[in-house]
Amino acid sequence: MNWWLSRSIHNAQQKNVEYRGTHENVGLIIGVTGVVGNSLAGTLSSTDTPGGPWKIYGVSRRGTPVCSIAKVTYIQCDVSKSTDVQAKLSTLKDVTHIFWVTSAFDLSTSKCCEINGTMFRNVLTCVIPNAPNLRHICLQTGGMHYMEIHRSIDGKLCVTSHDPPFHEDMKRLENVHNFYYTLEDVLFDEVSRKPTLTWSVHRPDLIFGFSPYSTLNIIGTLCVYATICKFIHIPMKFPGTEAVWDSYSNASDANLVAEHQIWAAMCAQGKNRAFNITNGDVFKWKHLWKVLAEEIGVEYVEFNATEKIISLSEMMKDKGPVWDKIVKDNKLIPTKLEEVGLWGFADMLLGGGTCRLSSVNRSKENGFIGFRNSINSFIFWIHKAKHNRLIP
Ligand SMILES: NC(=O)c1ccc[n+]([C@@H]2O[C@H](COP(=O)([O-])OP(=O)(O)OC[C@H]3O[C@@H](n4cnc5c(N)ncnc54)[C@H](OP(=O)(O)O)[C@@H]3O)[C@@H](O)[C@H]2O)c1
Repeated sequence: MNWWLSRSIHNAQQKNVEYRGTHENVGLIIGVTGVVGNSLAGTLSSTDTPGGPWKIYGVSRRGTPVCSIAKVTYIQCDVSKSTDVQAKLSTLKDVTHIFWVTSAFDLSTSKCCEINGTMFRNVLTCVIPNAPNLRHICLQTGGMHYMEIHRSIDGKLCVTSHDPPFHEDMKRLENVHNFYYTLEDVLFDEVSRKPTLTWSVHRPDLIFGFSPYSTLNIIGTLCVYATICKFIHIPMKFPGTEAVWDSYSNASDANLVAEHQIWAAMCAQGKNRAFNITNGDVFKWKHLWKVLAEEIGVEYVEFNATEKIISLSEMMKDKGPVWDKIVKDNKLIPTKLEEVGLWGFADMLLGGGTCRLSSVNRSKENGFIGFRNSINSFIFWIHKAKHNRLIP
């Protein structure tokens, strides 16, 4: 068992809080092949994970992934379609915990609220009445709870934000479309119909994890960018602003986020509250850039403030055939460039100018003491991408 998870739950026991370690639990992971879904599936599969042995159902539109996990029952289901949800999830009568780790992201903000709210409601209105032992729902949202970013007509990124470090008591931003607020409202509404149900909201910042099927996978995206630079012999320039290159950032290791959700599902102190979850340290992109260069075997390139900021969306427009050749020549898992190179996401993330740090005091004060060293986490997930043949 992961030491930090076991320790966090041990701490909870010392504080005389509820611990349900003796029951068999059944987790339903919606978004099982994504960065955190994958980590949840892996962590819940471990025989000594608290609350185990867990039975695990995992839902995604594509169904069983190439890097599947033996203990997971994969279910192919599109949760945006209520008929599909009814047909495939109403029969799962033994579910005790729902882990919501999915989103529809590539939409305009008001549409995004609508579709994400519908997806979540489809699942809750189907599973809650059909699974009598359902006890807890973990909803993953993120640090964007405290910010709103949009592009102005001239293409500039405009940010509305609370003053960081972000903490959970901060009020919602007004007059913004934020689908995280919609998801919380759906959660509170559906849970209020069954008083025995508990919930937790988890707000990671940028996630370091592994998935060939994610819409928000920064490590996979940067590894693919670095690999393309290596194979076509171009310098691996930082595709962002000097502010992001040189300021403090924080990240959330996907395995740590999974442990945080399991902790909340198992301990009374993790119930009916929202929690930020990050690695607990800070890093600078300029330091990670050196690590990336070393890991992929490309020359490290310093940020050059005199040059125009690179847009990966622009730069990678014609690189599909290059990636196809890299995949073929190196016998990688079959992926298309647009699946693994999430250029718009990287441009938005690295092209910003603001410091976004989240406080994790609430989690610690309530007994979750897990953390990660962000540089080690960055390396761990690059190795995972190599091991799973996402990159050479
Ligand atoms: N990744 C980050 O850096 C990050 C950081 C902070 C917060 N968050 C938030 O965390 C939440 C979860 O994101 P994530 O990054 O963990 O997920 P992700 O890596 O993008 O994975 C999404 C998962 O959901 C599945 N999925 C998507 N649409 C579906 C649908 N209609 N029906 C069934 N399955 C569907 C995907 O598989 P298929 O495509 O095969 O369906 C995949 O398994 C989001 O709200 C996100 O904004 C993410």
